[in-house]
Amino acid sequence: MDNARLNEEKRIAGYHAAGMVEEGGIVGLGTGSTVLFAMERLGARIAEGLSVAGIPTSYQAALRAREYGIPLASLDEHPKIDIAIDGADQVDPRFNLIKGRGAAHLREKIVADAADQLVIVVDRTKMADRLDAPVPIEVLPFACSPVLRRLTGMGGRPVLREAVKKDGPVITDNGNLVIDCSFGAIGDAAALEAAISAIPGVVGCGLFTAFGKKMKVVIGDGRECRVLSL
Ligand code: A5P
Repeated sequence: MDNARLNEEKRIAGYHAAGMVEEGGIVGLGTGSTVLFAMERLGARIAEGLSVAGIPTSYQAALRAREYGIPLASLDEHPKIDIAIDGADQVDPRFNLIKGRGAAHLREKIVADAADQLVIVVDRTKMADRLDAPVPIEVLPFACSPVLRRLTGMGGRPVLREAVKKDGPVITDNGNLVIDCSFGAIGDAAALEAAISAIPGVVGCGLFTAFGKKMKVVIGDGRECRVLSL
């Protein structure tokens, strides 16, 4: 799909999700290009009189929220979130996700867990019969080498993520490193998430397998969108 059509599908999904936010809502603001469309539309609704507060999952989300006039708050003020809107890299038919292309998956998972409702906004290319993308894993720098070894021992092919406009590795918003680990087609995503998360030094795994019941997936599909729930 060309970029213009892809962006249009992202915009349609993002705008739809922004329409699901209710007056007075506490809104989790995910990270990535699709959520930015939701924030743009949410900003427009706020300008029309809607009152909400956003909990950002990254510097990107916080910066763009300010730009769009979305008031920000913290999890300390609002440990319970009404609705979180976020993107994904892959979504399978059981609503297991791979997230973390933008290295924000640790805070995204915390916000998803705190939310009553999780709305995942994607274009069609993100839907997969089976998860098979590399899994982003945030690790404490101190633990990087042992974690790489453990992941290899689990049959993975781990690679330390390199920065693009900086020499050396990506440093996350939390001061950690990111390993992208390929496992091929993933059979039991929940078991893999649990196994990766149990490695000492891993602080965040980009597999999200626990949120299907409270999730809606909004898919930009051509000029329309489809909203799926389990
Ligand atoms: C951020 O780290 C990611 O989890 C994003 O939410 C995910 O990569 C989706 O991003 P796009 O909407 O830009 O594809």
